[in-house]
Amino acid sequence: QQNEKESLFIVLEYAQNYFHDLLLKNEEGISVGQSYFIERGFSKAIIEKFNLGYALDSYDDFNKKASLAGFTTEILEKAGLISVKDNQSKIDRFRGRVIFPIHNVAGKPIAFGARILKTDPKAPKYINSPETEIYHKSQIVYGIYQAKNAIRQADNCFLVEGYTDVVSLHQAGIENVVASSGTSLTPEQIRLIRRFSQNITVLYDGDAAGIKASLRGIDLILEEDMNVKSVVFPDGDDPDSYIRKVGSQTFTDYVNASQKDFIRFKTELSLEEIGNDPIKKAGLITDLVESITKIPNPIKRSVFYQEVSTLLQIDENILINEGNKLLRGKN
Ligand code: CTP
Ligand code: MN
Ligand code: MN
Ligand code: MN
Ligand code: MN
Repeated sequence: QQNEKESLFIVLEYAQNYFHDLLLKNEEGISVGQSYFIERGFSKAIIEKFNLGYALDSYDDFNKKASLAGFTTEILEKAGLISVKDNQSKIDRFRGRVIFPIHNVAGKPIAFGARILKTDPKAPKYINSPETEIYHKSQIVYGIYQAKNAIRQADNCFLVEGYTDVVSLHQAGIENVVASSGTSLTPEQIRLIRRFSQNITVLYDGDAAGIKASLRGIDLILEEDMNVKSVVFPDGDDPDSYIRKVGSQTFTDYVNASQKDFIRFKTELSLEEIGNDPIKKAGLITDLVESITKIPNPIKRSVFYQEVSTLLQIDENILINEGNKLLRGKN
């Protein structure tokens, strides 16, 4: 078992170099892959930092090269790099795409995300490695290796949705950023971030899906005894598109000015819908109390009860009573 993990690490390292070399030295890699990254504003330095790559638009070039290099079909398949059909025909998983290696905290590649070059409604935008013995996607966040020191230094972690958000923010000098990579956030991912800071600012895409995912993430983050703030970007922008539009200074100013704690974030999101409807207002308050009860620390809970009381003009003791009822129900 230990041997198999070792072999997986070795073949993933080989694959990372294979994709990276293609991007830097191969004619197709340069004209297709590099052009794509350059168009997105990625520099040579940032390509190096994230070890970005390119997979040829070929059926099985990777399989051929890796086999010649001595890797068995079995290990290539277990690593999720090829698929084997009918026990014989072998196809590369990643073809004609740019490659984002996913690294563990120590900086070793454990999986890949691969983006299509042109929008095609028939093909998925990203193809990712499957779960393997060394890659459990619920346990890793993209960019943690490149971000960990900056997270510690800033004592804050920006949490974004996508690979390109992470790379683009780094490119703009903002390095305390990791991505949940489109999947819903897990407690393990939050605990991984918590090794470096107790503070998370959620910067999800400014669309309905992003807002919904932020709301779901908030309660999980509170449950892990961490502090959470959220930002919504205007006009459906994501951090990558927004920072390219406005530059890093305006981006930072925007984040600082519009980040909200979960109470204000949830309240402002539902304000319009609530209007003067007391039932809907009660629904919001119940929801806020529920979120507050996720916080393990009683002192922090009390601060947020006060905030809800002031913000929504409701007796604090009622909130506390309701919260305590919920807490008793949990045990
Ligand atoms: N994702 C995925 N598979 C898909 C779509 C998305 O794994 N078919 C994941 C990727 O990790 C992606 C993240 O969800 O980075 C966010 O998705 P999206 O916002 O659609 O992509 P962006 O990262 O914004 O990519 P781009 O800017 O290139 O469109
Ligand atoms: Mn290199
Ligand atoms: Mn999105
Ligand atoms: Mn994007
Ligand atoms: Mn996006």
